[in-house]
Amino acid sequence: MKQKLLLTPGPTPIPPQVTSRMSEGMIGHRSSDFNQLMENIQPKLKTLLGTKDAVAILSSSGTSALETAMVNLVRPGESIVIIVSGAFGDRFRNIASTYPFDVHVYDVEWGKAVDPEAFENFLDSKENIKAVFSQSCETSTAVVHPLNALGKVVKSYNDETLFIVDGVSIVGGMKFDMEKDGIDCLVTGSQKALMLPPGIAFVAMNNAARQKASNHDLPRFYLDINRYFKALDENSTPFTPAVSLIQGLEKVLEIYEQDGAESIFERHAKMRDMLRAGLRALDFEMLVDDEYASPTVTAFKSDEEELKVVKDKLQNEHQITIAGGQKVLKGKILRIGHMGYMFPHDMIRVLAALEAILSDYRNEKYYGKALAAAQEAYYE
Ligand SMILES: Cc1ncc(COP(=O)(O)O)c(C=O)c1O
Repeated sequence: MKQKLLLTPGPTPIPPQVTSRMSEGMIGHRSSDFNQLMENIQPKLKTLLGTKDAVAILSSSGTSALETAMVNLVRPGESIVIIVSGAFGDRFRNIASTYPFDVHVYDVEWGKAVDPEAFENFLDSKENIKAVFSQSCETSTAVVHPLNALGKVVKSYNDETLFIVDGVSIVGGMKFDMEKDGIDCLVTGSQKALMLPPGIAFVAMNNAARQKASNHDLPRFYLDINRYFKALDENSTPFTPAVSLIQGLEKVLEIYEQDGAESIFERHAKMRDMLRAGLRALDFEMLVDDEYASPTVTAFKSDEEELKVVKDKLQNEHQITIAGGQKVLKGKILRIGHMGYMFPHDMIRVLAALEAILSDYRNEKYYGKALAAAQEAYYE
């Protein structure tokens, strides 16, 4: 028997205590037990998403939350800006192009973070922009955008312009404060830093966003967020939810409370630092500058042939799964996820495996190099 290690940027491993909670047995979603579950979850969920307002839970993948934000917060004909710095900004662009919106794309080189000043100039050149959409972590490049600075740019452009953030691959791995960062709507999914299987998505909206969503004329049914908030007032959901995932979520939120969210965020940052130090000791180039490197996923470059050997050997000889590049970055980078139920010793395991693979492939001894660099990053 061999122990597998899943280090992709979603889905991610599930803690055994969460698996166990999810298999305790089904409860009816129109029962007082379920209402109690929803009531228990809500305050902790708000803390994790950094909001004092209600957080809706949809039973669908993260993309549904992206689309929900869009169809509830943009009216037909309205002008919006989408920051596209990778595959998931592109997802926002594709969703928007399905609807009758006036879409302006702000393209950012893949692997780079948005420069707030340049973005401000772009935004100021557009009239009557009603909403700005961005990722927090663009999973395809492993960049984290400077949300606080972007929030300020959006609000100084027009206080009523909504700032909508996709936090799918980072909520749970980094502190969020919607009010401080000027975020009106934050969405995320279950299968990444939140240590759950794929299947539920979250939508947090402040008052301004709720107001806009409630006075809205774009046709929508399952994704009408007003239904979710109305049901939430009764600690319920409008449709049959993924009950077992919500049971698991209760356990996840207990873990955040017991371990302390700050220490979990710190662990994520440590894993990033260890990995970057270790990968550099293996002579890999990072795709992203240190300042904007995500605490949940890391991307490194090499030539296509070497990347293929590394990914395949990690999988076949070391039972470690990592991810390749997407779209224009296919064959140019590999990505290692370090979010949720992943730990510093997992970084040691993947770096040790990389030392072995590269010592053989490059015919140069790397043993101990990445490990020493990672340990230094961990302990210093
Ligand atoms: C930043 C980001 N947004 C959106 C999505 C889409 O989520 P899903 O695949 O759950 O629909 C992902 C998935 O990887 C993501 O990383």
